[in-house]
Amino acid sequence: MKKITIAIDGHSSCGKSTLAKALSKALNYIYVDSGAMYRAVTYYFLEKEIDLDDKKAISKALDKIEIRFKITPHGLRTMLNGVDVEKEIREMRVSEMVSPVATISSVRKELVKQQRKLGKEKGIVMDGRDIGTVVFKDAELKIFLTADPEIRVQRRFDELKAKGLNVDMETVRINLLERDHIDSTRKDSPLRKATDAIVINNTLLTPQQQLEKTLELVNEKIKETAS
Ligand code: CDP
Repeated sequence: MKKITIAIDGHSSCGKSTLAKALSKALNYIYVDSGAMYRAVTYYFLEKEIDLDDKKAISKALDKIEIRFKITPHGLRTMLNGVDVEKEIREMRVSEMVSPVATISSVRKELVKQQRKLGKEKGIVMDGRDIGTVVFKDAELKIFLTADPEIRVQRRFDELKAKGLNVDMETVRINLLERDHIDSTRKDSPLRKATDAIVINNTLLTPQQQLEKTLELVNEKIKETAS
């Protein structure tokens, strides 16, 4: 069957990665969590105490960063220079810095280049903020996921708790809303619905229902592109 590119964008914690993972499994496609790449860069900057106003230091650091994804029995793991940082990149200190880091054009340029490389062969589901508008402008299927803010806060709180991270609901709420604001108002590649994206509000949908709805869209797109 013809393979397509699927771009999923949306605000923080609206279920993008749940949908993207399930889709990639159902279709036997590659899954790339582009947010994990921004988180890995942020984690590196924090560890190396890189000053976000120092353009030279940022560019030097970017040359030293290699991000890969590894499939393990514990799920997909983000590898930074060969080290598994999946747990560290979900910590609050990274969540609090990632949106400012993602406003830096040199960071975006480097990550977009790597993301396009990963999607060269199609058969990919990538989620993020600028996948349908910048990274894969020609993706055959673009989804813009939305969900009520309070549901998103609750989902993220439950997810972090389940991962054993010690957080309180108010900190999660403040971080989500702050990131939504920075991500949608930044100059370079702000979070926007692509004009040709299909909106799915999953506030009242189960993960299974959102998967089924999207698989119908995938089948339609595959038929369309084949004819
Ligand atoms: O999981 P959640 O939706 O909360 O965030 P994420 O996908 O892990 O992304 C973390 C942050 O990376 C976002 O808040 C954005 O600032 C940035 N990001 C971006 O700028 N562009 C992308 N394509 C993906 C993430």
